[in-house]
Amino acid sequence: MTVSNVHTQVQVLEEEFTNALANVKNASELESLRIQYLGRKGCISKLFKKLEILTIEDRKPSGRDINHLKQKVQTALRESKTIITREDESKPFVDLTLPGNQWSIGRYHPVTTVLRQIKSTFERMGFLVVQGLEVETEYYNFEALNIPKGHPARDMHDTLFVGDEIVLRTHTSPVQVRIMESQPPPVRIISPGRCYRRDTPDATHSPVFHQVEGLCVDEGVTFADLKGVILTFAKNMLGSDVKIRFRPSFFPFTEPSAEYDFSCIICHGKGCKVCKGTGWVEISGAGMVNPEVYKYVDYDGEKVTGYAFGMGVERIAMLIYEVHDIRLFYENDVRFLYQF
Ligand code: DAH
Repeated sequence: MTVSNVHTQVQVLEEEFTNALANVKNASELESLRIQYLGRKGCISKLFKKLEILTIEDRKPSGRDINHLKQKVQTALRESKTIITREDESKPFVDLTLPGNQWSIGRYHPVTTVLRQIKSTFERMGFLVVQGLEVETEYYNFEALNIPKGHPARDMHDTLFVGDEIVLRTHTSPVQVRIMESQPPPVRIISPGRCYRRDTPDATHSPVFHQVEGLCVDEGVTFADLKGVILTFAKNMLGSDVKIRFRPSFFPFTEPSAEYDFSCIICHGKGCKVCKGTGWVEISGAGMVNPEVYKYVDYDGEKVTGYAFGMGVERIAMLIYEVHDIRLFYENDVRFLYQF
């Protein structure tokens, strides 16, 4: 055994170690490699033991040689350990014993639920559900509904204009004109949707709200048909005890015109917050289609008659769910919404 023998062995060991390290795939393989080289019975220890058979002068340079290798191995192992641990941690750990993730169940907004009930009730009475436009021209929103220029409803203070003669519809009534324009009588439709007005929000007003428009035009249609449809609707939505009443009113597109109310099913006439102590909840307006409107759509007002009605969806929702402030529907407070 000579200094050069030891040196060769050190070189061989170093080469073998470098190759072995390159093939290490995980932390446990790395630990085996460490034991193989640095362990008490590892190859570096064995090499140190061989120094005993060298002469005193040869031991020093060979000892340095082996120590050098030992340091190299230690450093390389330390560096590989940091990399391998990092890689191990970045691998997703699948724990099949974890409890299932809970999902919160979505639900319908109360206004949506009421809208769906309204649609289904009218569909079962033979009405077709049609879609209108939320952005309308002044012509359809006012003009063709016999609401002349200079009428206060056409004022900037009440209506949201989005362009020259273009408005966010203030009611669903423009659908009446669009549908009669597009088809000859008979017509029997409802049209639900959002409406917009420049109102300051309070317990009964919201700048965005929902209406349902109803229209029926045919030969021989009367005000009694209107009353029958509204009563059937009210009973289906609110129960057979509900009463309806019509009060004379004025709308430029109906003649005669009325406003109609449902009896308060919350207090049964005793008076409560929802009916403001009156026992009645105002729903909207209705009437017989004004023959002036037929002129805009080329219907023969001598031959056909028809009724039209509006409907405040939030008002019906307030009655059904005993909500006395319309703003609650639009604040998106989940404590409110999760009650439905
Ligand atoms: N469009 C009216 C409003 O927003 C409600 C209305 C009244 C609709 C009479 C009608 C009707 O169809 O005939 O106040």
